Amino acid sequence: MIILGIESSCDDSGLALYDTHIKNLRSHVICSQNLVHKEYGGVVPELAARTHIQTIIPLLSKLLKNSNLELKKIDIIAYTRGPGLPGSLLVGSSIACSIALSINKPVIGINHLEGHLLSPFLSNNSLTFPFIALLVSGGHTQLIKVNSIGNYFLLGETLDDAAGDTFDKIAKMLDLGYPGGPEISLISEFGDPNIYKFPRPMLYTNNFNFSFSGLKTSVLNVIKNIKLDSLKKEKANIARGFLDAIIDVLTFKCIAALKNTGINKLVVVGGVGANKQLRKKLNILKKQYNYTVFYPKKEFCTDNGAMIAFAGAMRIENNYKSESNYEFNIKPQW
Ligand code: KG4
Ligand code: ZN
Repeated sequence: MIILGIESSCDDSGLALYDTHIKNLRSHVICSQNLVHKEYGGVVPELAARTHIQTIIPLLSKLLKNSNLELKKIDIIAYTRGPGLPGSLLVGSSIACSIALSINKPVIGINHLEGHLLSPFLSNNSLTFPFIALLVSGGHTQLIKVNSIGNYFLLGETLDDAAGDTFDKIAKMLDLGYPGGPEISLISEFGDPNIYKFPRPMLYTNNFNFSFSGLKTSVLNVIKNIKLDSLKKEKANIARGFLDAIIDVLTFKCIAALKNTGINKLVVVGGVGANKQLRKKLNILKKQYNYTVFYPKKEFCTDNGAMIAFAGAMRIENNYKSESNYEFNIKPQW
């Protein structure tokens, strides 16, 4: 079976073909909208939807050409049903349903978070259920016990801002580029870890929840009280102080979740999961705390069509129903 995956929940258009016979991707393509949103320091929903309209069909042609495949050879179309921006989701779902109708094939609506959760399977043959997943993206920060396909238990999540959003907001305060995560990661390499000690929110609460708004405010207070001239020099130190704080919280809570559940496999997914300092710290601690950690390929940490095609394939293999009524049934808050 060949599954076409279409991702358009936010500001990345991603398409991929997953082949269940070879248990691998045939091809995948991504078009990031970073340049479109850069000047606003965050995603502008209206622009995101319009850009998806312009990019998805040309991307589909490129995908088919890359894999030397005709459209009618596709067996099922998996598209992101939610959560995400309503306009962006509507573009992906309407294109998915239109193509499916034209070739008389079914569609399956995929939860974007499930796509992220299963994404490490695309490059790790040794990963098996159950595992603990840290899902850290622009919209979510969650710790989840992943028992099997479709069987997910939420252990805890952020009570306010998501980790990725915090990276983006702090990068904006420091006048770095968008998306903020990679910018902060880069500049913090030049920062001194001993200048700014920011709070580690909710570190010792007896649960798996997170909170990042207080950390964001602490960074803002430091920035407000620095003279503009010195801020330029201090950016790297502030970024380093912030990065160390957020990584401490994320790793501490992961280890607590592993200990509490008795599971020794950790999976880190979502855009922030591409962060090299976070990966480094989790890799250093794995011996001490006796766990194995799995990541998707860096290109599949941020939003992509491959994870949606793969999640669609897994759902079909596990007897979940596809649909042929072609309703644009999006779920922005899913
Ligand atoms: O998963 P994703 O592409 O979109 C959502 O589903 O939200 O995640 C995007 C987020 C952005 O906030 C971006 O700043 C963050 O992931 N991100 C990073 C890195 N690369 C992307 N954060 C920290 N370090 C990175 N290297
Ligand atoms: Zn995402």
